[in-house]
Amino acid sequence: MTATENAPATTGVPFTLNGVELEAKQGENLLDACDRLGVHIPRFCYHPRMTPVGMCRMCLVEIDTGRGPALQPGCMMTVSPNMVVNTESEATVKAQDGVLELLLINHPLDCPVCDKGGECPLQDNAFAYGPGESRFVEEKRHYEKPIPISDLVFLDRERCILCDRCTRFADEVAGDPLIHFVDRGAQTQVNTFPDHPFSSYFSGNTVQICPVGALTAKPYRFKARPWDLTGVESTAAVDATGARVAIQSSQNRLVRVLGVDSDAVNWGWLSDKERFIHEATDAEDRLTDPLTRDDAGEFVVRRWTDATKIAAEALQGPAERIGVIGGARLPLEAQFLWARLTDELGITSRDAQLGDGLDPAILSGAPRATIDRACTPGGTVVLLGADPKEELPSLFLRLRHAVAEDGVKLIELTPRASSLSSYAKARLYAAPGAAAEVAAAISTDASASVGGVDAQELAKAAELLGADGPVTVLVGRANLAETADLTAAALVALHDVAPDLAVLSGLRRGNIHGAIEMGLVPGSAEGGDGAAGKSTEAMLAAAAAGEIDTLVLLGADPMADVPNRELVESAFAAVATVVSIDTFNTASTARADIVLPAAAWGEVDGTFCNLEGRLSPLSAKVTSPGQARADWIIAAELALATGHDLGVGSLGEVRSAMVETVPSLAGVDFDGLVSDADGPVIGGDRAWSLSAPSVSVPPVDGYGLRLLVDRTLWDEGTMVHHAPSLAHLATTATVSVAPAVLDRLGVQPGDQVTLNHENGSVDLAVAADGRLPDGVARIPFRAAGFDAGTLIGEGPVVDVRLDRASS
Ligand code: SF4
Ligand code: SF4
Ligand code: FES
Repeated sequence: MTATENAPATTGVPFTLNGVELEAKQGENLLDACDRLGVHIPRFCYHPRMTPVGMCRMCLVEIDTGRGPALQPGCMMTVSPNMVVNTESEATVKAQDGVLELLLINHPLDCPVCDKGGECPLQDNAFAYGPGESRFVEEKRHYEKPIPISDLVFLDRERCILCDRCTRFADEVAGDPLIHFVDRGAQTQVNTFPDHPFSSYFSGNTVQICPVGALTAKPYRFKARPWDLTGVESTAAVDATGARVAIQSSQNRLVRVLGVDSDAVNWGWLSDKERFIHEATDAEDRLTDPLTRDDAGEFVVRRWTDATKIAAEALQGPAERIGVIGGARLPLEAQFLWARLTDELGITSRDAQLGDGLDPAILSGAPRATIDRACTPGGTVVLLGADPKEELPSLFLRLRHAVAEDGVKLIELTPRASSLSSYAKARLYAAPGAAAEVAAAISTDASASVGGVDAQELAKAAELLGADGPVTVLVGRANLAETADLTAAALVALHDVAPDLAVLSGLRRGNIHGAIEMGLVPGSAEGGDGAAGKSTEAMLAAAAAGEIDTLVLLGADPMADVPNRELVESAFAAVATVVSIDTFNTASTARADIVLPAAAWGEVDGTFCNLEGRLSPLSAKVTSPGQARADWIIAAELALATGHDLGVGSLGEVRSAMVETVPSLAGVDFDGLVSDADGPVIGGDRAWSLSAPSVSVPPVDGYGLRLLVDRTLWDEGTMVHHAPSLAHLATTATVSVAPAVLDRLGVQPGDQVTLNHENGSVDLAVAADGRLPDGVARIPFRAAGFDAGTLIGEGPVVDVRLDRASS
């Protein structure tokens, strides 16, 4: 039940329900009103987050709107003044009994082998409202069972009751109308278009909302029965949206994640990554024991006390020669302790971002928006960052609803058309390096194109930014091959046009906003020699130059995630000691000297801070493998071993210390977060204090194409790679260009081309992308088959040239 439904009626609508005079809210759906008032009307097709369609007729009740009582589908009725509703009349009972008898005519008797058995609304409704026996003796309808309709979802058409929930979700909520009804009458069935699987990032939602066992999820099929499961509420931590979830386990294994309806965040929806990534926690190569290197350089298993002592020695060198990278994977409590520990040790070089984010000043120096503010009907959203469908998919669903249904106006200031492009009112596709210049040119008087953007679009954007309604800028990192300073400069230019704008952070990585809030940012620690702390890139450069001896990696894999690959390689080659605290074997742990195994998501209690600054719980459901420990315990033990007792012996004590010492956490009730589906927002109001960084972008050089490197949802990331059902979904590396570029090269999509850059050349398959402007070449980051990081250097932009491959 959502917060809206819990709210008291304001201007009530009087109506009679089963003989009792009650009040509904203005415009309230009859089923919602009855739920709120404690009267259950059975239903299959109704879903409070989708348009009612009256498909199943299970909710037939006797309603009198002044013209006499008649059976009507309750889900299609808005409560009107003096409406008389009878959910218990003889006619109602008979109708519901009849609907169930008809539904069961063709329904198989699959319950013992059906994933839905035990939590099935059809079982429940048949038991509570059904006829008890069937008069139907003929052969039932048969279909092949089940058929895969995507990589992750199976469809058993015999069990389908044609409620239209999955098809409505795909069309209305996800914007992926890839499943639909085919055939007619008794043969009507859900199916995909020929040769077009249901390849949606959100397919798992259809499994969750299917009221029967017709849709099942490959990662969960036959893994458990509902009565074997126990669950807790938690937060999806795979990206920064912080979608609320319920996590369920059986026999100490995470087996299912379900979306929970948080009115402020995800409305119950999840991306398939949030839903199925839990598979990774069962990966065979989880880190289970502390490891250090022997004299031959081989890893040897250590006891925690020994490994902690060795790691503590590495942390006690000169503070200015130690760098701490990462922390966005950690719960807030562990982030707090790592910030305290580095404070105590005088380590100022610490950065939870991996050179792929934004200067935290962008977030602290601008008024902050919530998701609800961005989605305020009539407002304007400027997309200045990556495609939210690829990086923050649950947020994408909220934004999509806002622009498709609620009249929110969208301005794209992006390197290419985003997944929301069809709803955009102004499309400012700025070539890599040109976003700031384009933002500065936004004006109702614009008369010439700038940075590849037409004057007409610039003028349209100016009008939208000047219109009534709040302006929210979703700021993220659109292009890993261009400096983040260009994004900051574009934001400052937008502020000149729309001084009342607020910023919704588009930083994508897990609990990154908690890490920033707790101070895992460069230069925020006191002590040391007073020198400003270094960012991740500066730390790596210093390590490469022999100025840093020890790198501590907090759940970070710079070898894979820092865009500038050459920089990471030189840093790892030069640094004396790498301490890696992580859950999985990664490219970086493989190069570490000391490895400490940490508990993973679902194995530890804690707190998450999402991109709005909203707090929500992280919950332990299963135990960690081997000797893996919670990150906050690792930090506390390392503090003790370095002679800095942080004075905490339990999670409760850590939270008390946080509430006492972190001003933004004053008064936060951590224990109450589980029961508060929306959670408090910390950090308060922020005033505008940004100024534009100076960055000069060279003209496109002889290479001819400017490089765009961005992320896709499915990549070779550590978690995806370790989740068996997801690993094969990773995007394959191709270089995409506008169709006109292919024509000029004289090649076809799929052909091999040679991509030349200043460090060499590489052959890749080429693809046509109509969403790209001419003059841009795009390669996805961490795609299978090619490491785009090898193209990224220190310049503000990267230029490349494509040639037909020689053979
Ligand atoms: Fe039984 Fe429900 Fe499965 Fe049908 S959908 S087979 S009623 S458990
Ligand atoms: Fe409804 Fe499930 Fe059939 Fe889809 S597959 S129409 S959700 S019963
Ligand atoms: Fe009303 Fe299906 S719930 S018709």
